[in-house]
Amino acid sequence: MQQVLVTGGAGFIGSNFVHHLIAATDARVIVLDKMTYAASPAALEGLPADRFRLVVGDVADAGTVGPLVAELTGPDDAVVHFAAESHNDNSLRDPSPFIQTNIVGTFVLLEAVRAHDVRLHHVSTDEVYGDLELDDPARFTETTPYQPSSPYSASKAGADHLVRAWVRSFGVRATLSNCSNNYGPWQHIEKFIPRQITNVLAGTRPRLYGAGANVRDWIHTEDHSSAVRTILERGQIGQTYLIGADGERSNIEVVRLILQLLGRDPDDFDHVTDRAGHDLRYAIDSSRLRAELGWSPAYTDFEAGLAATIDWYREHRDWWEPAKEAVEAGYAARGQ
Ligand code: NAD
Ligand code: DAU
Repeated sequence: MQQVLVTGGAGFIGSNFVHHLIAATDARVIVLDKMTYAASPAALEGLPADRFRLVVGDVADAGTVGPLVAELTGPDDAVVHFAAESHNDNSLRDPSPFIQTNIVGTFVLLEAVRAHDVRLHHVSTDEVYGDLELDDPARFTETTPYQPSSPYSASKAGADHLVRAWVRSFGVRATLSNCSNNYGPWQHIEKFIPRQITNVLAGTRPRLYGAGANVRDWIHTEDHSSAVRTILERGQIGQTYLIGADGERSNIEVVRLILQLLGRDPDDFDHVTDRAGHDLRYAIDSSRLRAELGWSPAYTDFEAGLAATIDWYREHRDWWEPAKEAVEAGYAARGQ
């Protein structure tokens, strides 16, 4: 039976991937997660005990990572590396855990898969490419030069470079993917879409950074998971794949849509202090993944996906409400 070690498997996307893998394959899954503030133990409830194990530990700790990777002795066994500090605003306040987890953690993992000759898939972000002008006809491709803007995206870019160097210099069997902005259930309420939904549900107004003209390219997290599985199964070693679902929307459009779907006046939001160094636009060209590996997204209707996500947050108040006050106090202290 195939075994897959999923780092960061208690987070928003990692936990979705764990459920996806258990449902779509007969693999046995080991999650390694430090259980930071961003982890959701509840997202891993109900998984079959004979196919799932949670190890609480740090991906940057070689003493934890080495023995776990050593367990992966089957020909199809693999590591899928999601573990990261993932929020740009936090990286502006304190970059240190981003360097430690995202760069040192990836280094430690690379040394372990090198030592034990285990296949790795490294999960990264489109933010490594910097940003595009609003009217730029080009989108990000696998050959776009790296130009990260924030401590978060710079740390992810550093990790990507390490993975490519370990492939070339040491023959590590790794693939990489860079995905656009995810939305869906279990996303931490510090992030844009869940923050605005839960603001409205909590009776406060959505908060838009600056004018809200910034564009993000939205993809449902289920589609990210199916793309990562496709790359894990059929991707070419050493290759990078961009994952996106043609979901470009300005932030102001998204806020208005959330308000409208919740039956509120679409102008019932506040403009707040902009993010320092705020990237203007991300847009993904996922042609390689579609043409070479035959992947396509299932969630092509953003409004329907957003409506279902709103329903999920409405039905899971017990999950997000305890964190809401502290998250909003942090934003308020920064004028956001
Ligand atoms: P998240 O913050 O929701 O989850 C991250 C998980 O990693 C948490 O469970 C956390 O406890 C764990 N973690 C953090 N530090 C750790 C450490 N040192 N050791 C072990 N576990 C640790 O993040 P997410 O949004 O699910 O993102 C997952 C991955 O996908 C990240 O690598 C991120 O860069 C990438 N990504 C995210 C998006 C997005 O839109 N959210 C888009 C593209 C790529
Ligand atoms: O592009 C992929 C990246 O998407 C991932 O690598 C990151 O892990 C993920 O967090 C996300 O980064 P962003 O910075 O784009 O996401 P965030 O949800 O923080 O913000 C989305 C947009 O909304 C961005 O332009 C900032 C804006 N924003 C955000 C918040 C929290 C607001 O206008 N108001 C807010 O309250």
